[in-house]
Amino acid sequence: MDKVTAAITAVGKYVPDYILTNKELETMVETNDDWITSRTGIKERRILKEEEGKGTSYLAIKSAEDLIAKSNLDPSEIEMVILCTATPDMQAASTGAFVANKIGAVNAFAFDLEAACSSFLYGLSVAAGYIESGRYKKILLIGADMNSSMIDYTDRTTCIIFGDGAGAVLVEPTTDGNGLQDEIMRSDGSGREFLNVAAGGSMMPATEETVKERLHFARQDGQTVFKNAVFNMADVCEKILEKNNISNDDVDWLAAHQANKRIVEATARRMKLDSSKVMLNIAKYGNTTSATLPLLLADYEKQLKKGDTVILAAFGGGFSWGSIYFKWCYNS
Ligand code: UT7
Repeated sequence: MDKVTAAITAVGKYVPDYILTNKELETMVETNDDWITSRTGIKERRILKEEEGKGTSYLAIKSAEDLIAKSNLDPSEIEMVILCTATPDMQAASTGAFVANKIGAVNAFAFDLEAACSSFLYGLSVAAGYIESGRYKKILLIGADMNSSMIDYTDRTTCIIFGDGAGAVLVEPTTDGNGLQDEIMRSDGSGREFLNVAAGGSMMPATEETVKERLHFARQDGQTVFKNAVFNMADVCEKILEKNNISNDDVDWLAAHQANKRIVEATARRMKLDSSKVMLNIAKYGNTTSATLPLLLADYEKQLKKGDTVILAAFGGGFSWGSIYFKWCYNS
């Protein structure tokens, strides 16, 4: 029997309409367009402002609806919905289950997967495992984050980076040799002190004090995260090439988490990749956490060709990181 691998057979995306530019940030904190552009590559990011009371599920639903409309998918055929997010709508109730209900995935079981900026990469690994096992044949994998819900817009070290967005992919079995070929996944929990939202979880529930001290916002030690991101993401990308005997010439695309353009460029340099092979959309969206990888795939869908070798990579809070060697599955 031919080997079953996990193929991505459709993609969808959604970003909110409101554009928060570097110019507008200049009026909010002490920063400037030149600094942000040269240090991060970000020019603007999208913020979910227009829909009062909406959370990450709103972004996820929109991206799933885009995928469903583009691919003529009957949502009742979806068997599983994995919602990758670091900003669920609420605690103790699955945002994924809510999303599945809203998009008409009435026969699916759904759950959330949280691994900070590596959520979508880990989610692809999980979805692929289910597909390869033969137990499921249609999995909707969504990466969605409403980062603006945890950003302190008086903190210039974080508010310039993050944005809101969502991307969705459909994962199905294939026997044509394309799809997920190999992966290297890593995590190191000793890194959690360098990037987190301190309060609101079980360790430090919300109190008047935690609100006053602004402990419900994301804080990071940017330089430590930066150094770890550059070292570890480049490391797993290099290793996955070696492990699979792939040369830099064989790689068609690098789809790396969009946290900082300099981190992506350092990874590409280590892989000796020409810049024309490096997917980039950070200038438009900033760091959308779980959404960066599916947003890249959606934005580059028309340029991707069946059989293309794509290296997906991510690094994020936790620390969590990894790389996936993938062969693209269709021409659009
Ligand atoms: O998705 C995974 C999670 N996040 C990441 O991967 C992010 C990783 N980190 C980074 O991308 C970068 O560390 C940042 C973009 C957060 C910061 O860039 P940096 O080049 O590491 O800057 P820095 O923290 O070393 O600060 C350099 C200078 C400092 O001033 P002095 O001490 O040299 O006078 C900062 O106070 O830049 C100053 N600075 C700013 N200036 C203007 C810090 N933030 C800003 C700002 N605008 N927004």
